[in-house]
Amino acid sequence: MNPAGSSKPQAQVATAGLSPEAARAWSAILEARRLVRAGHLPVPGATLASDSPPPTALAVSGGFIVWTASAGWEPIPAAQPAAEPANQAEAQAEAQAEVRALLELYLPLLPPQRTATLTLAHLGQSLDGFIATTRGESRYITGPANIRHLHCLRALADAVLVGAETVAADDPRLTTRLVPGDNPVRVILDPRRRLPQERQVFQDGAAPTLLVCAAGPGTPRNWGQAEVVTVAATAEGRLRLDALVAELHRRGLRRLFVEGGGLTVSRFLAAGLLDRLHLAVAPLVTGEGRRGLSLPASPALAECMRPGCRVFRMGADILFDCEVRAGAGVGTSAGAEPARVIPERRRDHGGATPDLFRIY
Ligand SMILES: NC(=O)c1ccc[n+]([C@@H]2O[C@H](COP(=O)([O-])OP(=O)(O)OC[C@H]3O[C@@H](n4cnc5c(N)ncnc54)[C@H](OP(=O)(O)O)[C@@H]3O)[C@@H](O)[C@H]2O)c1
Repeated sequence: MNPAGSSKPQAQVATAGLSPEAARAWSAILEARRLVRAGHLPVPGATLASDSPPPTALAVSGGFIVWTASAGWEPIPAAQPAAEPANQAEAQAEAQAEVRALLELYLPLLPPQRTATLTLAHLGQSLDGFIATTRGESRYITGPANIRHLHCLRALADAVLVGAETVAADDPRLTTRLVPGDNPVRVILDPRRRLPQERQVFQDGAAPTLLVCAAGPGTPRNWGQAEVVTVAATAEGRLRLDALVAELHRRGLRRLFVEGGGLTVSRFLAAGLLDRLHLAVAPLVTGEGRRGLSLPASPALAECMRPGCRVFRMGADILFDCEVRAGAGVGTSAGAEPARVIPERRRDHGGATPDLFRIY
């Protein structure tokens, strides 16, 4: 299988809704990702895949993103431009703040080494902690800026993973459609192969797809157009997620995006397999519903997980970008980085707020 998932003609990809500066920054982020994956960047002790010198700086509005072997891609502001009229300067500052937020959010998802791994999960939840209503409706808990963010995460990942219940409830395509970028390989966790083969991910051929189930007699090779992959199960019949992750890494799928639902994300978190958790909180109250995170209780406050996090504004939603790598920020706030709020900047769009990519 092509580990990179599938590409599609960029002309077919919607770019409406992005400011020109944000669209250019997104292109630079995609190029940065491509260079890391292709092994075209100097890393300590490694031989380059090509003889031609790689670009180590990519231009974005207000500066560059610059590669160093030790830190990977980092945003570097340009020298101050000559003074401009006040209204132009304000517009430019707005655009650059939007670009900076994009870089702050996405560059940490491009680890410096070609072979580095990263597993990130995302959930969009209500104020009272639910990711869907009692009858499973989740479209849409969060607003368009967060939905676009999901598509960015798909574009940056090698593989997107979801639990069987999400495919049963939503019949999602799990492709990158709202921003330019490749489709990731799709990985569906369906231990008992209970999903009908008619689901879109098994039929549309939009990207390579894996159906992951427990090993057993009579396991078919395919499920619709998907390849069936078996992994070991625990004594309780759950798929061994560490074995699954190892199998995906073996296939060259190193940047993993766990897109839901709550049970699947919770199991990855409980198993210590996540590096980052994105929790988007929407101003919505469902009263009851499908739980987001659901973990064993920690009766002692001092033992609760208190991850270091950054906070981004996405339209009306708030995104918590949490570092949950095993050992990071567990316990009291001692040792945990305090939440860093990237403040909202006011914009006047004459009443028609282009919400997409309104990330601060
Ligand atoms: N707001 C959001 O961000 C968001 C995102 C995605 C989905 N959703 C919504 O969330 C709901 C689904 O979430 P959910 O928490 O109910 O379920 P889910 O996580 O989508 O799927 C859970 C199922 O996946 C399988 N699975 C996952 N990990 C496994 C493991 N380690 N071993 C074995 N099987 C494993 C199991 O299938 P079996 O039951 O066959 O054992 C399990 O019951 C839907 O309503 C969907 O619309 C919301």
